[in-house]
Amino acid sequence: MSGDTLQFNSESVEDTQAIAANLAKGVKATLPAGMVIYLEGDLGAGKTTFSRYFIQQLGHTGNVKSPTYTLIEPYELEDITVYHFDLYRLADPEELEFMGIRDYFRENVVCLVEWPQKGADFLATADLVINIKPTGHGRIFDVKALSARGRQLVSALPN
Ligand SMILES: Nc1ncnc2c1ncn2[C@@H]1O[C@H](COP(=O)(O)OP(=O)(O)OP(=O)(O)O)[C@@H](O)[C@H]1O
Ligand SMILES: [Mg+2]
Repeated sequence: MSGDTLQFNSESVEDTQAIAANLAKGVKATLPAGMVIYLEGDLGAGKTTFSRYFIQQLGHTGNVKSPTYTLIEPYELEDITVYHFDLYRLADPEELEFMGIRDYFRENVVCLVEWPQKGADFLATADLVINIKPTGHGRIFDVKALSARGRQLVSALPN
């Protein structure tokens, strides 16, 4: 496996919480730089579960609900703003243009994007792509860096 990809095994939701905590710590270390993270994986893979723990680790104390119907949930945290997207219900990628999508992808912002393929070319390119695959009863997380900032984060992760 290339040096830019790490794999983590999650046997339980608690393992996913630990993976999310490590990634959130990595993001904090790269602040004030922001990060665009695509979350890939089928329905029920664990994208929202991961996002919930990740956003809480970044300092959010309340609930994290799935942006299934709102498409975007914003979190204004102390050190960073997080935008959590779920584009599953996006009928046409062009809708993102009308939503002012470009304004969301800026410095000092972490964007988590579930179903990024629905956004086609309207999304900023990813620094990290996290692919979640179900195994027997657990999950495999593939974390791939696609930019210098993503590689910096991945190289500092415990493995
Ligand atoms: N190891 C694990 N990691 C994450 N979730 C797990 C794990 N084991 C079981 N689960 C369960 O799998 C489900 C994952 O649902 P979740 O909503 O996070 O999926 P999703 O990828 O966001 O789906 P969707 O595409 O519908 O948004 C949850 O009910 C969670 O409790
Ligand atoms: Mg989800």
